[in-house]
Amino acid sequence: MSRLVVVSNRVAPIDEGKQAAGGLAVAVLAALKKTGGIWFGWSGAVVEEESQSEPRRTDVGRLTYATLDLSRRDFEEYYNGFANQTLWPLFHYRVGLIEVSRRTREGYKRVNGYFAEKLAPLLQPDDMVWVHDYHLIPFGEELRQRGCTQRMGFFLHTPFPAPEILVALPNHRELIRELCAYDLVGFHTQMDLRSFVDYIRQELDGEVEDRGPEGGMLIHAFGRTLLARAFPISIDTDNLVSIAETAVRSRHTERLKESLVGRRLIIGVDRLDYSKGLPQRFQAFEQLLAAYPEHCNRVSFLQVAPPSREDVPEYIAIKRELSELSGRINGRFAEFDWVPIRYLNKSFGRRVLAGFYRTAHVGLVTPLRDGMNLVAKEYVACQDADDPGVLVLSTFAGAARELDSALIVNPFDIEAVADALQRALTMPLPERKERHAAMMRILRSHDIGWWRESYVDALTRAPYG
Ligand code: F6P
Repeated sequence: MSRLVVVSNRVAPIDEGKQAAGGLAVAVLAALKKTGGIWFGWSGAVVEEESQSEPRRTDVGRLTYATLDLSRRDFEEYYNGFANQTLWPLFHYRVGLIEVSRRTREGYKRVNGYFAEKLAPLLQPDDMVWVHDYHLIPFGEELRQRGCTQRMGFFLHTPFPAPEILVALPNHRELIRELCAYDLVGFHTQMDLRSFVDYIRQELDGEVEDRGPEGGMLIHAFGRTLLARAFPISIDTDNLVSIAETAVRSRHTERLKESLVGRRLIIGVDRLDYSKGLPQRFQAFEQLLAAYPEHCNRVSFLQVAPPSREDVPEYIAIKRELSELSGRINGRFAEFDWVPIRYLNKSFGRRVLAGFYRTAHVGLVTPLRDGMNLVAKEYVACQDADDPGVLVLSTFAGAARELDSALIVNPFDIEAVADALQRALTMPLPERKERHAAMMRILRSHDIGWWRESYVDALTRAPYG
C-alpha cells in the first residue's frame, strides 16, 4: 500500500486531545494511520522574518507532521489576501466582494511554491499526495515543476462556481490549468462537478468523457488527462451517535436544559462567516416571533458563532452587523425572564455540541452558499431516534442534495424560513421519525469512512492518462 501524504493549509494539532471535531481531521488522520505518511501544511504561526525555514517535523508512530511558519507578508497576501478575499467570495458566488490584486495573486503562488519546495525532498517515489482546499490549488503544478511524478489528488472543500461566476477572476484560465495538474479532482456535489465540466467545455473547448455518477468525468485539457468526481464529505456517524447518547447527560447539557426551563430550543452553529446567512437567519427568527406570537417566551434560539478570519474587513463588518441585529431583536421581544436569541462568539468541543444538538428541537442551517455543511449532518446524527428534532436546511448547502428529508428552505426568503420554523416546531412525532430515519440511512451508508476510502481508491487508480 502506498504511503499517503496529505497537504492542507491547516494541520490538526498533534495533541489528540486538542484535535478538532472537523470532518477533515477525523478522515485524514484515519487514512494516515492506516498507510503511514506525512501531514504537511502551515503551522498556524506568523513570524516577522521571511518564510524560508525548514519544516518542523514531529513523528507520531508511522505519521509525520511537517509544518511551516508563514511570514507576515505571506500571511497577508496568501491567506488573508488571495485565498480569503478573492477565492473564498468568488467560490461562494459573492462576486461583488472579490478583491482583485496582482500582489496577492503573486503571494498566493509564491507560498504554494515555497510549500512545494519544502515538501518535494520529503516525498518517496510511490507516495500518493492528497491536497486539500482552495488555499493550495497551484500546489500540484508547483510539485510537478520540481520533477515530482507521484500520483496527486486535490479535494475542494468549498463550492465550485458556475463558469459565469468564475470568469470574473482575472487569469481564471491559469487557475484551472493549475487544477488540471492533478490526477484526480474531487468536489462535494454533482453540481460543483458540473460547473467545473461546463468551464472545461465552454472556456477551454476541452474534451470530457462521462463515466456515470460513480465513475466521474474524464477530462482532457492542457495536454493532460485527469478524473473529476463528486465525493460528498461526511461525518463519523456511528461514533457521533454514541457520543450524543452519553453527552446528553453531561453537565453542559444539564445546564442548558435547566436554563431553558421547559422552553424549546432552536440551534445554529457556524463559523462567523458572511456565507452562512446569519443576518437572514436572525431575521427569520424575528419573523417567527412576529408572525406566530405563541412562541414568544416559549422558544429560544441559540446561535454559536466563533469568530473567524478576523483581519479581513468583511468579517469585521458581519460581526458588527450581527451584534447590532441580535441586540435589536432581543430588545424588541425579550421579557424580564427570557432572552430570545442567545448569541455566542465562542466555540465548543465536539462532545458539548453533541449534547446541545440532541437537546435542540430544531437545527437551523441556512447558509447562502456552502460546499457541504457538516453541522447539518451532525445535528441529524445526534438526535434521539425515538423523539428526533427537525432539520431546517438551506437548498444552497451541499448537504441538501443528500439530506432531502430535511425541511429545505431558500435562506433569502425570510418569511418562508419563519414558516419552516413554525412547521418544524409543530411537526407530529411520526413525521419527525420518518424524516430522521431517511436521513440516518444516508449518513450510515455514506459516512466519513466511505468518503475517505472512495477518494483514496480513486487516487490509487491514477494516473488516468
Ligand atoms: O470550508 C472551507 C474550510 O477550509 C473548512 O475546511 C474549514 O473548516 C474552514 O474553511 C477553516 O477556515 P480557516 O482555516 O480560515 O479558519
